[in-house]
Amino acid sequence: MTEAALTSIKKDKKLHIMTWGCQMNVYDSTKMADLLSPLGFSLSDDAQGADLVILNTCHIREKASEKIFSELGRLHKQQKEAADTSPKMIAVAGCVAQAEGEQILARAPYVDMVFGPQTYHRLPEMVAKAIRGKGGQIGGGVIDTDFPAESKFDHLPMETTGQGPSAFLSVQEGCDKFCTFCVVPYTRGAEYSRPVSAILAEAQRLIDSGAKEISLLGQNVNAYHGAAENGDTWGLGRLIEAVAKLNIQRIRYTTSHPKDMDEALIAAHRDIPQLMPFMHLPVQSGSNIMLEAMNRKHTRDDYMRIIEKTRAANPDIAFSSDFIVGFPNESDKDFEATLQLIRDVNFAQAYSFKYSERPGTPAAKMAGQIPEDIKTARLAVLQELLFAQQRSFNERFIGKTVPVLFDRHGKLDGQLLGRTPHMQSLYVQNGKGMFGQTVNVKVEKVTTNSLERVIV
Ligand code: 5AD
Ligand code: SF4
Repeated sequence: MTEAALTSIKKDKKLHIMTWGCQMNVYDSTKMADLLSPLGFSLSDDAQGADLVILNTCHIREKASEKIFSELGRLHKQQKEAADTSPKMIAVAGCVAQAEGEQILARAPYVDMVFGPQTYHRLPEMVAKAIRGKGGQIGGGVIDTDFPAESKFDHLPMETTGQGPSAFLSVQEGCDKFCTFCVVPYTRGAEYSRPVSAILAEAQRLIDSGAKEISLLGQNVNAYHGAAENGDTWGLGRLIEAVAKLNIQRIRYTTSHPKDMDEALIAAHRDIPQLMPFMHLPVQSGSNIMLEAMNRKHTRDDYMRIIEKTRAANPDIAFSSDFIVGFPNESDKDFEATLQLIRDVNFAQAYSFKYSERPGTPAAKMAGQIPEDIKTARLAVLQELLFAQQRSFNERFIGKTVPVLFDRHGKLDGQLLGRTPHMQSLYVQNGKGMFGQTVNVKVEKVTTNSLERVIV
């Protein structure tokens, strides 16, 4: 079916996208909407009555994929019970789709499309095929989980739906690190860096559509090595420098790997005023034995050296990290080493997880899996320490005035949420006229997770 024929089926089609997982998935979801817009699809907040519902999924931990199947079950129940208002077509995208392709259709045969993170640029063709195959029958789902030779980035539309004051921009994708616990190298594929000119052009379009802050994204964003127009290869530090020359107030980047941290990126934290004083640098464990078993390619001391160097370059910088407890064979001593690293660094915030076995990864087959109750107990101890650090970091801001970029509406009328330079969420009860603005705010109260204000 051609694009014209498809468009003629129904002009105004509703698209609802549910997004799980990392910021790269959020970015991909905005691109899917951009791709479908020429076919007459416009975004809707509601799955009810949508012509197409896309579940953009995450496979990083067990619970993430289980949630997808329960959501699919819920949508299908709607389809059976209320044909008029239920979603007409259901698609599963993202990393669960990539990893489980055929199994999704076997378990949920009513799903119309299954496609991975590297093929969603083909979405218009897939939608056409799915509509053609529809005719009421079940089991005709379209699957596309290739790793195509072409880059999807070369096939994404130039038009960008504005993302608002704070926008995501994927600059790098995939991973060649193969940490033994992680599915990303299998679901997102090999590392790839977009060319500099494409990134700068997209950054400019985001700015033109209202972005005040751009977050450069990549699974290994600081492994960025993109081609510049003159044939040079640029690292992330240089790319940030070029983005900073555009009319942008704030620049962030995530997620970095300690192994790829270089002098240019550290210097950028000293030299580029728009680069926010915040670094998310996952370490996973403070034990060298665990780091080795995880194939992290760095030691605890390597990590500490990066922290020291970055703090020397910019004493105001705040650190965030990811931790895994209960990796196979983790002893009390290993766990204590992680707690010690946390005390030594003093994090502004962090994410922490119980190790979960992911099919196909080397760690899933390791002897010495840790019992669930030990994982639970360790996670509680670790989080108590991290939360205490986060709270005391936030408490340092009481009475201080900080610039906040307001980029989200709160649940209550007039309530606005924004971010401080250090990534703290800050909310104000009456923020009329401040959406999209950076406003100096005096911090009144803090909790572990947020700051509350008075406007100055
Ligand atoms: N189990 C638990 N946590 C994991 N992560 C990745 N894979 C696993 C797993 N199998 C965590 C890591 C990573 C973050 C995005 O998710 O901490 O940095
Ligand atoms: Fe996964 Fe390790 Fe690659 Fe991060 S660096 S995406 S944890 S394999």
